[in-house]
Amino acid sequence: AQDTPHWRPALHFSPARHWANDPNGPFLLNGVYHLFFQYNPHGMVWGHTSWGHATSTDLVHWTEEPVAIPARPDEDIFSGTVVLDRDNRSGLGSKAAPPLLAFYTSVYSNTPAHPEGTQAQSISYSVDGGHTWRAHEGNPVLTLQPESRQFRDPSVFWYPDGQCWVMATVVGDAQVVKLYRSTDLLHWSFLSDFQPSGYRKPGMLWEMPLLLPLPLDGNPHDVKWVMIVSVNPWSIAGGSGVEYFVGRFDGTIFTPDALPAPGSDPSRYLWLDHGADQYAMARFANTGDGNPLLIGWMNNWDYASDIPTSPWRGQMTLPVEVALKTIEGRPALVQAPPRAYDDMVRKSGVHAYPDRMLKAGDHLLQPFGGDVLDIHLAIRRGDARRAGIVVRGSADGTIGTSIGYDFIDQTLTLDRAHSGNVGFSPRFSLAHIAHLAAPGGTLSLHLVIDRDSVEVFANDGVLRMTDLVFPPAGSDRVSLFVEGGSATFGAMRVAVLGK
Ligand code: FRU
Repeated sequence: AQDTPHWRPALHFSPARHWANDPNGPFLLNGVYHLFFQYNPHGMVWGHTSWGHATSTDLVHWTEEPVAIPARPDEDIFSGTVVLDRDNRSGLGSKAAPPLLAFYTSVYSNTPAHPEGTQAQSISYSVDGGHTWRAHEGNPVLTLQPESRQFRDPSVFWYPDGQCWVMATVVGDAQVVKLYRSTDLLHWSFLSDFQPSGYRKPGMLWEMPLLLPLPLDGNPHDVKWVMIVSVNPWSIAGGSGVEYFVGRFDGTIFTPDALPAPGSDPSRYLWLDHGADQYAMARFANTGDGNPLLIGWMNNWDYASDIPTSPWRGQMTLPVEVALKTIEGRPALVQAPPRAYDDMVRKSGVHAYPDRMLKAGDHLLQPFGGDVLDIHLAIRRGDARRAGIVVRGSADGTIGTSIGYDFIDQTLTLDRAHSGNVGFSPRFSLAHIAHLAAPGGTLSLHLVIDRDSVEVFANDGVLRMTDLVFPPAGSDRVSLFVEGGSATFGAMRVAVLGK
């Protein structure tokens, strides 16, 4: 395939070459963010599954590092977590040099010890700040009995109330999260299964579980627990996506709050992203007491092997800080780009534009353009039915990705049907629609536009939509539109980050 430098993301991590999927074990140490990821060092499709590695000081610009944990002939290295064992409870470092422990899934082949394809949880550790890793001699540290080919994706966190570590894993095809505890990170005992009668489908996989406590509406006396799981397929936007449950965790069992009746429409469940290209969310470890920082893989298993970028295939979504707020009467996650991202945008120069009222049929080309943009705007309804913005537009107007709000139906649509190259897979879904209220008749949008993606944060992060797009080079126009009445576009602030 021909190289596609015009699709190389500027604001998102992508490896210089070859295939990448899930983010793995991200953490912060001494002011440096480390990100690992599922990586094929040898090719453009999934395989030779290893942990690639990248570092950053601002969560936007990444430096690719040597492969951290390579696949071996008899062992692939699937997704997982890194934790800092500050008190050296594992004994794998020392008090003076506390070890980092990477938990991941070993997938065994051709070994006498395990049936072909067994998945079990293992540890590699680092005593040099995450640069070099050594496999723990007692691997694997956790194996399901009887051994399973679907037991994976350990996510590990410190649980202060129990003075222990908790691990969440899945048995993917059983759509179950299994919880374990440990005090030394090496020996794990079973706590409970989470297998709600909620949104389930035969053949659906549950992957990459994440359990985190969050104060509701910022109240430290009302802490809830959020269980995030990646599901594939049958996500809200088709193919793979990220679902979550809000509930309680008592140190043993996670209990979700009231769930919709089994068989309810998927839109009744909670989804972290309503676009097609968010999967396998992972949490940065060791970031302190602030809001949790998450990052995902910007792709969809429906067509991940077909996307037309070269010489790389796979990239991460923008890291986000998450909080829990009461939205339309129930607790829900809200997401915002991290402060480091906002600082970068501010430093690169933000331009404010005056309010504009548009009438039905108006299509107003904006005086700025670019293929890497940060855009804030608020759309206030006059009597319009729909209003929105088109980004990554071509000069002749035939190409563009539209983000439009329907004030009557109260839906936001991210439409990539005319975004450029959409023909590489019949499964590349073309439009994503989500319910969203516009309190007081105003919708606010924060758009992060990159060379091959559009990320939408609506109403201060109440709704998120992430989509890949593959426009021809030079598609840098931005325009506003209104249908069926009038609307005012206000509070427009734009940073042109790439042209
Ligand atoms: C999620 C996933 C994980 C697995 C990894 C393998 O995308 O399927 O369940 O650990 O990818 O690369």
